[in-house]
Amino acid sequence: MSTEGKLAGKVAVITGSAAGIGRASSLLFAKEGASVAAVDCDQAGNAGLVEEIRRNGGIAEALTADVSSAEEVERAVQQVMARWNKVDILFNNAGIVGGGKVHTLTEEEWDRSFAINVKSMFLFSRAVIPAFLQQGGGVILNTSSTTAFRVVADRALYTATKGAIYSLTKSMAIDYAADRIRVNCLCPGTTDTPSLRARLSARGNTEEMTKQFIARQPLGRLGTAEEMAKAALYLVSDDASFVTGSAFQIDGGMSL
Ligand SMILES: NC(=O)c1ccc[n+]([C@@H]2O[C@H](COP(=O)([O-])OP(=O)(O)OC[C@H]3O[C@@H](n4cnc5c(N)ncnc54)[C@H](O)[C@@H]3O)[C@@H](O)[C@H]2O)c1
Repeated sequence: MSTEGKLAGKVAVITGSAAGIGRASSLLFAKEGASVAAVDCDQAGNAGLVEEIRRNGGIAEALTADVSSAEEVERAVQQVMARWNKVDILFNNAGIVGGGKVHTLTEEEWDRSFAINVKSMFLFSRAVIPAFLQQGGGVILNTSSTTAFRVVADRALYTATKGAIYSLTKSMAIDYAADRIRVNCLCPGTTDTPSLRARLSARGNTEEMTKQFIARQPLGRLGTAEEMAKAALYLVSDDASFVTGSAFQIDGGMSL
């Protein structure tokens, strides 16, 4: 276990670690001394991440799990406890984007988005909180979105999940404050990640779509996964020791 860095000696579980914001955060947390339990359903992508962390001298384990499965989440947390016998940080970051107006959505699409984006946070929190209580504290960070505050067209389902995450975060923050468990959410604006690129190319004219996305953000560009990772690092580290229940908007001014 590392003794140097802002997260020295900490064990961090990060979901959605194989790509985008989760990947950048896993690399940064490991660089800052955390032992990273990288959880993703993309086994190959996750293996590549862990290999990179180890090559850089960091500590990480790849755990393959579907974050919406109670059984797989329980197994992943058991693997973390078996490996390190503790957990300090839970970064619930995995999520998917679903588009379409409400009358066009299927029940399966609705349930899948809520299962991956919201239920996963309940499942992971439920699995790690007993260890936090025993250890005398812990930190949870949930990835919401700036759309929890400023809606965009054609994103009702996604926005509903991200609003739910904001409410869940605040409720958990009040419920566990006395137990020294801090709970916050990260609210990214439009960020250049593999999922964003896939969405752009699915809409055809990538250049035009990119321009439209950029136009929503007063700072005049997309965010980067590395910028999101730096904000996440702040929120899970002791630098944010007095921060709980907050929604940290890192969105180029999109929510203004
Ligand atoms: N990129 C953006 O513009 C943006 C903006 C606001 C919020 N967010 C949120 O940030 C988070 C990360 O987004 P990203 O853009 O980095 O996405 P991404 O698609 O680039 O990465 C998401 C990762 O989550 C994993 N994942 C998806 N479903 C999973 C499941 N069921 N079980 C396990 N792993 C699963 C994927 O395999 C992938 O590695 C999401 O919650 C997303 O909603 C992203």
